[in-house]
Amino acid sequence: MEEGTTYRDVHARSLAEPEAFWAEAAEAIDWVTAPTRVLDTSSPPLFRWFPDGELNTCANAVDRHVDAGRGDRVAVIHDSAVTGKVTRLTYAELRDQVARFAGALRDAGVEQGDRVIIYMPMVPEAVVAMLACARIGAVHSVVFGGFAPAELAARIDDAEPTAIVTASCGVEGSRIIEYKPLVDEALRLAQHQPTATILLQRPQAQAVMGDRDRDWTEVMATAVPVDPVPVQATDPLYILYTSGTTGKPKGIVRDNGGHAVAMAWSLGNVYGIGPDDVWWSASDVGWVVGHSYIVYAPLIVGATTVMFEGKPIGTPDAGAFWRVIADHGVNALFTAPTAIRAIKKEDPDGELLARHDISSLRALFQAGERLDPATFAWASQHLGVSVVDNWWQTETGWPITANLRGLDPMPLKSGSSSVPVPGYDVRVVDEQGQDVAAGIEGNIVIRLPLPPGTLPTLWGDDQRYIDSYLSVFPGNYATGDGGFIDEDGYVFVMGRTDDVINVAGHRLSTGSLEAVVASHPRVAECAVIGVRDDLKGQVPRAFVVLKAGASDDGVEDEIVALVRDRVGPVAALKQVSVVPALPKTRSGKILRRSMRAIADGRDEAPPSTIEDIRVLDALGPLLRGDA
Ligand code: COA
Ligand code: AMP
Repeated sequence: MEEGTTYRDVHARSLAEPEAFWAEAAEAIDWVTAPTRVLDTSSPPLFRWFPDGELNTCANAVDRHVDAGRGDRVAVIHDSAVTGKVTRLTYAELRDQVARFAGALRDAGVEQGDRVIIYMPMVPEAVVAMLACARIGAVHSVVFGGFAPAELAARIDDAEPTAIVTASCGVEGSRIIEYKPLVDEALRLAQHQPTATILLQRPQAQAVMGDRDRDWTEVMATAVPVDPVPVQATDPLYILYTSGTTGKPKGIVRDNGGHAVAMAWSLGNVYGIGPDDVWWSASDVGWVVGHSYIVYAPLIVGATTVMFEGKPIGTPDAGAFWRVIADHGVNALFTAPTAIRAIKKEDPDGELLARHDISSLRALFQAGERLDPATFAWASQHLGVSVVDNWWQTETGWPITANLRGLDPMPLKSGSSSVPVPGYDVRVVDEQGQDVAAGIEGNIVIRLPLPPGTLPTLWGDDQRYIDSYLSVFPGNYATGDGGFIDEDGYVFVMGRTDDVINVAGHRLSTGSLEAVVASHPRVAECAVIGVRDDLKGQVPRAFVVLKAGASDDGVEDEIVALVRDRVGPVAALKQVSVVPALPKTRSGKILRRSMRAIADGRDEAPPSTIEDIRVLDALGPLLRGDA
C-alpha cells in the first residue's frame, strides 16, 4: 500500500473515477490488444468493461508464468483425502496438459464460442478442462456433482453444449458416486444433444462407454497441443447456473477481460495473496468460489492453489483441514462457516487441531453464508489468526464487502462482513428505493455500474437479467439480501429477502424445491421454508397439505426421495411435515413471507385473519426448527 493510502481513499477513488481506477488495475493482465476504452455505457442498464480489449484468460493463468521462467513453480496441489493421493502440477505441466486437452476439445468439434459442460468431481482434470475451454475461446459451464440428472438436463438444454466432459465417478466419504449413469440419464431427458462426451476413467469405478463417448487418456494421447486464441474482453468465459425463483436456473455469464482484472486485483487486495503464497479455497469447482478462488484468481496471480477432495470431517477425521494446511504450508484458507461448524462440533476443544503445525496460516476467510458470532469466536480463538468474513454471490464473482487484508486491514466486527470493496457502491434502501439511515435494516443494493468481473447478463436472456436484478430498484443492482450499514460504514448482511436459502454454504431456491414437492400425486399444496440448523445454517423443510382423502402413509419418505431424485442429494431436504392447513392471504396466496419471518426469528406484519394467526402459531415450532 502506498504511504497515506487508506481503504477509504481507495474506495472513494474507485467510485469517483472508475475508469481510471480499473484501467490501472488492468495493467496486471497481459492483453493481446490493450483496451483503449474502459467502460461501455452505451446501453444502460447493461454495461461492458474493456470493450475493445483482447486477451486470453488461459494464457494469463498459465502460459505467462511459464514464459516468465516460473514453469517449475507448483500451480496446483491436488490433495485427495478420499483416495489418499496427493498430486502436484507445476505451471509447465499444467500448460502442457491444458494445451493438449484444448486440442482434444477441438478434435471433438468444439469451436470458439461453443459451450462445454463440465460435470466432474474435484480432480485436477476439472481445472485442465476449464482452462482448455478458455484457451480456445469456448465457454465452460461447470455443473456441481451433487445435482441430479434432471438439473443437469436443464443446464444442457439452456447452454446447448457441443461437448460434455465428465468422469467415471466422484467419491463422497466412503461412497463411490458413479457419474456416467447420471450423465446418460440427463442426456435422455435433455432435448439438446452434444456431439461428444469425454470421460476420465478413475480407478474407483469403470464407466461403460457408448458411441459418442471418448476416453480422456486416449484423446490426450492423440491430441495436438494448441496455443491460446485471442478473444474479446467482453466474450463469455463461462456460464455458471445458480438457483432462480422458478425451476429454470439462471445462467450467470462471466466475461474474459473484466473477470481477469477483478481476479488479479481481489486476490492481492482482499485476500493479501501473492505469487509466492500457497492458497487454499476449500470449496468445489462447481460453485463460484471454486471458479474464482480455486482456479482463476490464484493461477492468474501465479500462486499455488490447493484443490482438496474430501470433507472437513470424516476424511478421516475433523483434523483433515489442519493436516492439509500443515502438509502444504497453506498461507490462507477460504471456506464456508458450515465447514468450521462441522469441525467445531467434532473437535470442540481443538484437540485434533493441536496435533498439526498450522503456523504457516495467516488468515481464515469465510463466505457463502452468514458467519455466525459463535463460529467466528471459536475459529479466532483456536486458529489464532484473523477470521475474515466476506460477502458476495455467484452473480458478482468476487467480494462485495470484505476486510481488505492486502490493502488496509481494518478492525473486524463480529456479525459484519466489513466494508464495501472498491468498485462497489453499496446502499441500503427501503421498499421505495430510498436510502435508509445508518443502522436501519432494508434491501441491500449496489449502484450501477457494477465493477469489472460481475455478471454482464444472464445467458441468452438480457431481459431476464434486467427484470430480475435491475428493475426492482432502478439504477441499482438488487442483491436479494437484506441488512444494514452501521455508523462506521460496516455492512451487516442478515439474510435473503427472496426465496433463496443457504444450506451448508450451498444456494438453493425453495421455489424450485416446492415445484418438485407439489408434483407428488398426494400433495394438494405446499410451502418449502428454510429453517435453522446448527450445522448447515439452514435446511429446507417442506410443509404439505394432502389432497382430500389421501393417506399420509409413507408420504414423507416418498417426498424426500422425489426431491433427491429430481434435484439431487445437495437439496438436503430431509424434513417433511404433513399439516392440516397453510396460512393464506385473502386472495388465497400462501403467506410464505410470514412463514419465513417466523423461521428467521424476524418481526413481520401479522396476518389479517384470526384463522391464519392460529395456523401460523401451530406451525411456529416447526418453522423455528424447535420441533
Ligand atoms: N456429488 C454427489 N453428492 C454430493 C456431492 C457431490 N459433489 N456433494 C454433496 N453431495 C451429497 C452428500 O453426500 C450428502 O448426501 P447424503 O444426504 O446422502 O448424506 C448431500 O449431498 C448433502 O451434502 P452436504 O449438504 O454437503 O452435507 P454433508 O453432510 O455431506 O456435509 C458439510 C456437510 C458441512 C461437511 C459440507 O456441506 C461442507 O463441507 N460444506 C462446505 C460448503 C462449501 O464448501 N461451500 C462452498 C461455498 S464456500
Ligand atoms: P452464492 O451465489 O451461492 O455464492 O450465494 C450467495 C448468497 O449467499 C448471498 O446472496 C447471501 O445470501 C449468502 N452469503 C454469501 N456470503 C455471505 C456472507 N459472508 N454473509 C452473509 N451471507 C452470505
